[in-house]
Amino acid sequence: MNNTFKAFVIQQNPDSAAKQKTIGSIETLNNADLPDENVLIKVDYSSLNYKDGLVVTGKGRICRQLPMVGGIDLAGTVLESADDRYQAGDQVVVNGYGLSESHWGGYSQRQRVNADHLVKLDAVFNTEQAMAIGTAGYTAMLCVMAIQDHGVTPEHGPVLVTGAAGGVGSVAIMLLAKLGYQVTASTGRVDACKAKLTGLGASEVVDREAFNVESKPLAGEKWAAVVDSVGGQPLATILAQVNYEGIVAACGLAAGMSLPSSVAPFILRGVTLRGIDSVMASQQRRARAWKLLSELIDLNHLASLYCIEPMSALPQLGEAILSGQVQGRVVIDVNA
Ligand SMILES: NC(=O)c1ccc[n+]([C@@H]2O[C@H](COP(=O)([O-])OP(=O)(O)OC[C@H]3O[C@@H](n4cnc5c(N)ncnc54)[C@H](OP(=O)(O)O)[C@@H]3O)[C@@H](O)[C@H]2O)c1
Repeated sequence: MNNTFKAFVIQQNPDSAAKQKTIGSIETLNNADLPDENVLIKVDYSSLNYKDGLVVTGKGRICRQLPMVGGIDLAGTVLESADDRYQAGDQVVVNGYGLSESHWGGYSQRQRVNADHLVKLDAVFNTEQAMAIGTAGYTAMLCVMAIQDHGVTPEHGPVLVTGAAGGVGSVAIMLLAKLGYQVTASTGRVDACKAKLTGLGASEVVDREAFNVESKPLAGEKWAAVVDSVGGQPLATILAQVNYEGIVAACGLAAGMSLPSSVAPFILRGVTLRGIDSVMASQQRRARAWKLLSELIDLNHLASLYCIEPMSALPQLGEAILSGQVQGRVVIDVNA
């Protein structure tokens, strides 16, 4: 077996005066360069998520050590395993678990990972489709699980999805619609994306600017549940509109880290603000999420949701996702 392969490696920027302290480039590595983990994987695909945008552009301080191989997702085939749970030929996925932060990630034709971090791929999906879902889609599933576990059913009323044209938002719409919920999609790209979001299952598409305004502590009740990937002022405004004992599954910060809200929705309406973290979610929760994804994802809808790009496009793609220009999902073909 040829021991060399290509990877997108993040390193210290040699220009110490530059604003971005790290830069990424495609490098040739050797098996011996890989971390000392117990499963060697031939990676087929990774994907592009908001956090990947922060890493590949050097705009976020995500990498906790350098050099780092980027990519918070990977899907591929086991080549060698020192762990009995996995054999050569198994198709597997890793989402998060510190990939691209503290562990080398999926922007690489080969990677060594900890067997505890793997999920066996359901036969329903090939590795390309698994990465079309990726961390964004699996996080959308975690949000929908939180809504179901809270007891919200389609009869309780409309569910709002923010950041609707992005990765988490698009998959959340598909999943909720498949489960029979009436979905309202909030987007900054109504004209460009309305047809697509309706096609995914949204029954209403609204301009996100409606939520980007200060709100009274409580407003009229509109939403039985919310999948929120934007945070900031929109989340604060939306919290004031959630129905009595409704729930917001909050996973993102595309509109900002702050939350200029009040306790009124919590103490007067019993609203639940449920934080969603995909990175360190338990194996049990991941297995449940991937099982549900295999039951709920319509592969034709999924096919309309993503494009495939090579690793060489990562710098431009990173800028695009940070500026909200990416629609749906981007799969990264590490072998192109
Ligand atoms: N907690 C977790 O484990 C976890 C996992 C995955 C992702 N996330 C977070 O979830 C968020 C979405 O991730 P993603 O991969 O789906 O990213 P994405 O594809 O870039 O989607 C984000 C969407 O947010 C909207 N948006 C962008 N800037 C905005 C602004 N200033 N105000 C309001 N809306 C804005 C845009 O949708 P429209 O054009 O439709 O308005 C954009 O498409 C990110 O913050 C990411 O870090 C968290």
